[in-house]
Amino acid sequence: MCGILGYIGNQKKTVDVLLQGLSRLEYRGYDSSGIAIIQNGKSKVFKSKGKLSKLKTKINKHSPKGSLGIGHTRWATHGDASQKNAHPHISGGTSVVHNGIIENYLDLKNELKKKGYKFYSDTDTEVIAHLIEDMSASGLDFEDAARAAFKKIEGSYAIAVISDKNPDKVIATRKFSPLILAIGDHENYLASDVPAILPFSRKVVYLEDGDVAVLERDNVRITDLDGNELKRKVQSINWDPISVEKCGYRHFMMKEIYEQPQAILDTMRGRFSEETGEIFLEGFDPAMFKDINRIVALACGTSYHASLIGKYMIEKIAKVSVEVDIASEFRYRNPIIDRKTLAIAVSQSGETADTSEALVEAKSRGAKTISITNVMMSKIARDSDRVIYTHAGPEIGVASTKAFTTQLIAFYLFAIYLGRIKKQITKKQAIEMIKDALSIPQLIQVVLKLDNQIKELAKEFFTYRNFLYLGRGINYPIAFEGALKLKEISYIHAEGYAAGEMKHGPIALIDEDMPIVLIAPGDGVSNKKILGNLQEVRARKGKVIFLTSDLSAPEIKGNVDKIIEVPDCPNLLSPIVSIVPLQLLAYHIATYKGTDVDQPRNLAKVVTVE
Ligand code: G6P
Repeated sequence: MCGILGYIGNQKKTVDVLLQGLSRLEYRGYDSSGIAIIQNGKSKVFKSKGKLSKLKTKINKHSPKGSLGIGHTRWATHGDASQKNAHPHISGGTSVVHNGIIENYLDLKNELKKKGYKFYSDTDTEVIAHLIEDMSASGLDFEDAARAAFKKIEGSYAIAVISDKNPDKVIATRKFSPLILAIGDHENYLASDVPAILPFSRKVVYLEDGDVAVLERDNVRITDLDGNELKRKVQSINWDPISVEKCGYRHFMMKEIYEQPQAILDTMRGRFSEETGEIFLEGFDPAMFKDINRIVALACGTSYHASLIGKYMIEKIAKVSVEVDIASEFRYRNPIIDRKTLAIAVSQSGETADTSEALVEAKSRGAKTISITNVMMSKIARDSDRVIYTHAGPEIGVASTKAFTTQLIAFYLFAIYLGRIKKQITKKQAIEMIKDALSIPQLIQVVLKLDNQIKELAKEFFTYRNFLYLGRGINYPIAFEGALKLKEISYIHAEGYAAGEMKHGPIALIDEDMPIVLIAPGDGVSNKKILGNLQEVRARKGKVIFLTSDLSAPEIKGNVDKIIEVPDCPNLLSPIVSIVPLQLLAYHIATYKGTDVDQPRNLAKVVTVE
């Protein structure tokens, strides 16, 4: 996790670029933050525990000047969240910011201590600063000293360094953690992620593992660890800078909930023909999937829930068996994979360490691989044979919303694509399915109109301490996802269950203090059974919030406390619609509780540690 940033140039105030950029990276971690700016040949370092706002207040009193600097927002791994452990870390005139983990830091620390270096923090990062200083002391110039130090460290990292001895360069490197360069006019930037630099530049270079970038005002060079020059492509980013602003919404999460109709349309755009029922997925070749007889989906968190729904879609449409694995478990259980297995890695960020490692594991065992991700050129995208990009735009709120629903639409498109290859659906059926998908943005708009009603509902329920979410069939993963949203941002204990499991345990928890969200859109068999669950809950005095599109069943009347009525929708796509009111419910409960919706405690948007 953590976000890092670098700037060199005379066009803007360095401190403003760093603070603005960091505010867009804060989703990656927000335990502490810091910047270093070289002013009149000397590094000025400012750090603060807690949110970036604390750092801003501190810096305002000093307004440092200078034309290059680095910045960091932290999610603690080594050492607690304190000012002492905040980055940048300094040794002599060298300042370092780092995202990742230095695995051999204890050995390096011991060596450096023997040489007389004093350590002030509990972090692994501090060894990098001392190492570079040590290499400089042995006579190397800044660039060579940095490269020599980078060669000695093991682990995952994105690093940016500045030095008082050479105040005209920012040097950076990466391995397994993301880092991009952005090219400006007489100024250059580096950042962990595109949103941080979007308002400044849209010309971006994605650094690769082992690259060392040297940024000067008018020049950017990339070398390997031995100093040999490398060529990397400059790519144009088409994300709109407005997409990283709140645009009048109180929180990014709310903005992103409201962006879902558009994000779904964008994810579908150009990928289907309503006339022929064909699905077009960039770079995909039907030959790759002809022999596939089994699929494993690998993911964490919300992406895992999307994969559980993807399983229903693919099995129903393409009739290929799908197993869904929690990525952190997959590679430690000797999974059975062969050349006829397709592994699908699902990750909003494309960076999650567990998912990325699981993908590499599946590949090493011979699986063909695709990924569903929202971030271009991310590690997971680069490591898979083919990618389906979700075009959700940047998702800043830590609790995932539009990334989830766009992953579902991506799964659906892939299921139709595979269904046609496997000859499990006719052209006519594919055309119908595409039509169904095209109706979804409009149906979400209808659900978004329930916002005020759900806010009222939240007012009545925000003081409860436990919630149970129950769903069936393709909506049972929505019970997990609805519960996850609530715990992530409101810190209320919430459990999601397949409704049929209620009688095997959770029923013991039900009393008048336990609200139960029953998810029952549509009028299929699943919902008939949920009506049975409703009676069981009622008999134990549980409070029921009933999400449905069909109010005709006589069992409903008098047995539910609150109804969330969603529009009727094709079954396979109903999770995309039914999650929206649950996102809104979690959001409003959290705002009534006064929690930090976009940056909930202890969480980070991108988890690059195992
Ligand atoms: C973190 C985030 C979750 C996300 C999960 C997987 O835990 O807080 O919102 O679902 O990582 O992230 P990914 O980027 O792989 O989808």
